[in-house]
Amino acid sequence: MSRRLAAIALLCFSTTALALPPTALDNRIAIQVSPSERNQILFEMREFLHSLFNVNNALANKDMKQVAISAKPIAGLMERLPTQTRAHLPEEFSQMAIGMSELLNVLVRDAQTKGDVSLTQSQLAELMSYCSGCHDSYRLESVPAKLRR
Ligand code: HEC
Repeated sequence: MSRRLAAIALLCFSTTALALPPTALDNRIAIQVSPSERNQILFEMREFLHSLFNVNNALANKDMKQVAISAKPIAGLMERLPTQTRAHLPEEFSQMAIGMSELLNVLVRDAQTKGDVSLTQSQLAELMSYCSGCHDSYRLESVPAKLRR
């Protein structure tokens, strides 16, 4: 291929790349985990979503005792992960998980002691900013344990 043709081909290729919609690019930071670590983290995540569903149902019924019970599984992610897994997680990831857990404990305590539906709703909104904050920043990359950096 002549140099000119190659340049044209390159130009076409790069313009196609530029034409990609922003959703086609994944700029999140990849966290390398083994397949079983990934399974465990994603299992926890699906539990979080179940909890949010149950909390919202309980809130709709103004059942604050049930709100507190349903919210609890969202706390303590870091404690449930094995030490070895925790050691591989970026500091900011861990801080976000701990921050979410602390906020959750406040939500549970206030639901039990104050019984204020709109307070719990605003705490839930704040809680969900941790869900999206972390999801916007990180993704998991499954790598066999021995190849992991
Ligand atoms: C500290 C970081 C962090 C927090 C906080 C967090 N997540 Fe996640 N979550 C992740 C990562 C990383 C993934 C994997 C994303 C990927 O690989 O594309 C994930 C994936 C998920 C998934 C997909 C599960 C699957 O089986 O694929 C769900 C559902 C989810 N999170 C729910 C939640 C909810 C609900 C909250 C808040 C209550 C939450 N997460 C908070 C990091 C977090």
